[in-house]
Amino acid sequence: MATPPTPDPKALAGARAADFVEDGMTLGLGTGSTVHFSLLRLAERIRSEGLRVRGVPTSLDTERKAREWGIPLVDLGAVESLDLGIDGADEIDPSFRMVKGGGGALLREKVVATLARRMVIVVGEGKVVPKLGTSFALPVEVVPFAVPSVARAIARLCCTPKERRHAGQSYRTDNGNAVLDCSFASGIEDPEGLERTLRTIPGIVESGLFLGLAHVLVVGKNDGTLQVRER
Ligand code: A5P
Repeated sequence: MATPPTPDPKALAGARAADFVEDGMTLGLGTGSTVHFSLLRLAERIRSEGLRVRGVPTSLDTERKAREWGIPLVDLGAVESLDLGIDGADEIDPSFRMVKGGGGALLREKVVATLARRMVIVVGEGKVVPKLGTSFALPVEVVPFAVPSVARAIARLCCTPKERRHAGQSYRTDNGNAVLDCSFASGIEDPEGLERTLRTIPGIVESGLFLGLAHVLVVGKNDGTLQVRER
């Protein structure tokens, strides 16, 4: 008899996060290919259990999926805080510090993560790293006007910035901004210090460093198992 295929680690982690949702919750709905599975499972629970929730989407992509799959949405302006947020990450270290923004949704994701009382992060095991900036460039969202000056300032300070491009053009976020993907020769030594420094550069809207914002980590392993850790 043929061995059943090992489940996709992203699908495992994404779907598991939907178990944290309780009736009546207001949710932050993250972005990306792992959260995709959280949204699918959440939609299934809404249909099968009659779960009443409402969500704030962090991207146009997530908004479209939520509408299509029957997840009720609410404007951020109508809520003061969120009971629970679910999102992915590009890297997460042992202290639950993260690099995010591979999909360009970092600004709305950070706003939502900051308002969430509890943030569940869903990743495949390849995203768990000993040190940030070692496997993924740090995305920094910048107003288009300031891309050259911000790139020069960042290059002087710490790393090699490269403007993100898409389909032969400068990439634009859902907010109409550019993204500089910043590579570090040997990773990010001091994420908190770097975040403070980046905040001083005019033209930077937000960085993809998410510090102190994750509470629960759900890791899908390549062998088909799951690991759930609390900070
Ligand atoms: C979106 O901008 C990102 O922050 C995503 O949350 C992150 O890139 C994880 O995406 P995947 O789950 O697709 O890897």
